[in-house]
Amino acid sequence: MKVNGKARTLDVDSRVTLLDALRERLELTGTKKGCDRGQCGACTVHVDGRRVLSCLTLAAGADGTAVTTVEGLADGARLHPVQRAFAECDGLQCGFCTPGQVMSAVALIEEGHTGSEAEVREYMSGNLCRCGAYQQIVAAVLQAKEGS
Ligand code: FES
Ligand code: FES
Repeated sequence: MKVNGKARTLDVDSRVTLLDALRERLELTGTKKGCDRGQCGACTVHVDGRRVLSCLTLAAGADGTAVTTVEGLADGARLHPVQRAFAECDGLQCGFCTPGQVMSAVALIEEGHTGSEAEVREYMSGNLCRCGAYQQIVAAVLQAKEGS
């Protein structure tokens, strides 16, 4: 598969999740393991441009796809507009959920689900934040959308 634009080849057991392959084999630890059971969204990455929960995706199932993780968003030292908006709007506290929130937000903006605050909340509802930074997260998504 391609990961953040680079071809990567892995030999993995058929039970290994994409999340574990990214974190433990490719050392891309930006993608977080919150619940490991599809409930929190911290592990969100893009596979062929669509957001997926990498804890519920088998690495073998991603064979031949293009995977983007949070490490693949910035252009060198230049943050992605969504990352910049999260920083400017204080869209985080501890930051553990943030990579997943950012990956969801990037996809959500591309999908065009940013018509209102309510729509953003609905389409970001799979990403939980234990710190409760939701107000600022929504503000960041709307600010990033304006700049996109
Ligand atoms: Fe995948 Fe929580 S770690 S949804
Ligand atoms: Fe702490 Fe979201 S910023 S869990």
